[in-house]
Amino acid sequence: MISGDVLKYRKGLLIPKRYETRLTASSPFPLTPPSGGKPISIAVQNCYGRSRFEGYLGNVGLEYIAVDWYNIPVTEWEADTMETYPNGVGYVDGVYSAKEDMRVPVADLGFLLSDMTYDAVHVHNGNFFRLEDHLDRWERSIEKRRFTTLGHDRDGVCEIVTECVRRAELRAAMVYMVATRGEATDGLKDLRTCRNRLLAWAVPYYGVIAEDKMEDGIDIIVSDVLRTPPESIDPTVKNFARIDFSDALLQAYDKGAEHAVLLDRDGNVTEGRGWNIFALHGGALVSPDSGVLEGISRRTVIELCRNTNIKAELGQLKADDLRDADEVFMTSTAGGIMPVRKIDDRVIGTGTRGPVTTRLTDMYWELHEDPDYLTPIDYH
Ligand SMILES: Cc1ncc(COP(=O)(O)O)c(C=O)c1O
Repeated sequence: MISGDVLKYRKGLLIPKRYETRLTASSPFPLTPPSGGKPISIAVQNCYGRSRFEGYLGNVGLEYIAVDWYNIPVTEWEADTMETYPNGVGYVDGVYSAKEDMRVPVADLGFLLSDMTYDAVHVHNGNFFRLEDHLDRWERSIEKRRFTTLGHDRDGVCEIVTECVRRAELRAAMVYMVATRGEATDGLKDLRTCRNRLLAWAVPYYGVIAEDKMEDGIDIIVSDVLRTPPESIDPTVKNFARIDFSDALLQAYDKGAEHAVLLDRDGNVTEGRGWNIFALHGGALVSPDSGVLEGISRRTVIELCRNTNIKAELGQLKADDLRDADEVFMTSTAGGIMPVRKIDDRVIGTGTRGPVTTRLTDMYWELHEDPDYLTPIDYH
C-alpha cells in the first residue's frame, strides 16, 4: 500500500489525501469495492510514465480506492469521476460526495437536539446572490450558538460551498451551509465536549412553492399552532427546530392548502416554514417586524421599495390584515417573491398575482444582473 503525495481532481469527488490508496497487482479488472461505489478514472504517474485506469471509489466514507496497478510508487495521480450529480454535491467531515450519499452520525446533537444553525444562499446564472449578506447572518448565528469548535472560518465556509457548486456544475442552485453542535464524548451529552460539525451542499435551484403556482399564487391557512416564542428559540438564528411549522403544515394539508403562516401568542403574524410574508394595504406593504427570521429576500424587497413609490415597512400584522389585504406574497431565497392566492378560503385581491407583486418580482430578478449583488463562481 502506498499513499499519494499529490492529488488533483478535474470534476466530482475529491479523493481525500489522508486515505491510503490500495493498489493491487492481481485483482481482476475493473475492481469492485466491497460496498459498491462510484466509477472513477484515475491517471497515475510513476517512474515509467503515465497510465490511466478505471476503477471504483467506495461510497462509504470514500475510504477505498482500487486500481489495477503493480506495486510501483506513484508520484502523482489525478482522479476524474465519470459521473454527474443530478441531485447535487455535499460536504461533510472533509469529504465531498453526491448529495444523496451524505451521512451524519445519529449521535450528532444537531440531530438529537436540533442544536444547529444554517444558512441558505442561491446561485443564479453562475453567481451567488448576496453571498456576503448570507455569510454575515451565518457568522452572527455561529456566534450566538457558541459554535467555537467548527474549525472553518468565513473564508473556509465560502470555499467549501463554492466547491459544492463547482463539482455539481450547477448554474442555478440552492446552497446550504449547516453547523451542528456535533457529538458528545459520552451519554452525559455535555455540550462542552462536542466538536462542532460543518455540512454543506448544493442542489438544483427550487422554490418553496411549485413553479406552476408562481403566476396565480398558492393557498395558505393561518394556523392555530403558535410559532415557538422567540424567548425559547431565537428565530433570527436560522434553524431546523421546526415541529411548530410541521404541525401547522399538516393542518394546512388537511384543509386543502399548501402552506401555513403562524401567529405568536399575541395574535401577531410571524412567518411560514421557509418564508417571510408581506401584505399590501392601500399601496403600503407591511412585513412582521419581530418573532421572525430576518430574511435576506425580505430585506431585498424593502430595499427595492425604497427606489419606487411603494411604501414598505416592518410592523405588526394581525390575521385579518392578511385576509383583507389587496395583495399578499411570501419571500424566500428559495423562490424569491411568491404570490398568495387564498388565505383560509378568502381570495386575496383578484385571485391572481397583483400588480405590486408582479412589479417587485420583475425588479427582484433584474437585481440578479447587478454586479454589486453578485459573487461570480469560478467553475475552472
Ligand atoms: C423560517 C424562515 N423564515 C424566513 C425565511 C426567508 O429567508 P431568506 O429570505 O433569507 O431566504 C426562511 C428561509 O429559509 C425561513 O426558514
